[in-house]
Amino acid sequence: METALPKLAMPDPAKGPIDPKKIFPQADEIWLEVGFGGGEHLAWQAAHNPSVGLIGAEPFVNGVGKLLVLVEQQQLENVRIHFGDARPLLEGLPDASLTRLFVLHPDPWPKKRHHKRRMISPWFFEAAARLIKPGGQLRVATDIPDYVAWTLMHAQGAPAFIWAAEHVDDWRMRPEDWPQTRYEAKALKEGRRPTYLVFHRK
Ligand SMILES: C[S@@+](CC[C@H](N)C(=O)[O-])C[C@H]1O[C@@H](n2cnc3c(N)ncnc32)[C@H](O)[C@@H]1O
Repeated sequence: METALPKLAMPDPAKGPIDPKKIFPQADEIWLEVGFGGGEHLAWQAAHNPSVGLIGAEPFVNGVGKLLVLVEQQQLENVRIHFGDARPLLEGLPDASLTRLFVLHPDPWPKKRHHKRRMISPWFFEAAARLIKPGGQLRVATDIPDYVAWTLMHAQGAPAFIWAAEHVDDWRMRPEDWPQTRYEAKALKEGRRPTYLVFHRK
């Protein structure tokens, strides 16, 4: 954390707008993962898409530490980390700066009085509509049926996005370019089946 994080840290969004092109001058596209947990999905995407700049946002110190180890082990050069709440980062990035945005197994906050803490919200869909370029994607995974309904309900209120699913398998089968996360493996072990939602930015 002391030596590796400063080299990979995103600028502090509190200090002004962020220009991702300056951070990834060589990248064709920029993708962002909100709440990357142990970082296994983010590291996989970075390794398989070397021309993409990958930003991860995560407030959990152990998760950031795990991603730093993966970055070092795999010598990934296209990863940057925002250590903290993703929301100020989303606010600090410019319009149409992202091609993909991932939210994989967000904290479910199952109690009704805590629903306002859920990452998926009208605010989030508005931010995603501003940040994702037309033709880009928002990917959300969850193993909580109520969170699936919650996400689809909010997506319906977001005219910038279209849910591209046509067949049951489109949301029940993990796409090949979507590696399993630690939390997903845990959910499957405990008998919960994940849902994979892909929304296209119109
Ligand atoms: C259930 S875990 C899933 C982790 C990982 N995506 C996975 O699938 O294994 C939810 C993650 O979201 C992170 N998180 C919670 N609130 C967040 C926020 N406001 N901004 C960014 N990450 C957040 C948590 O620290 C945690 O790592």
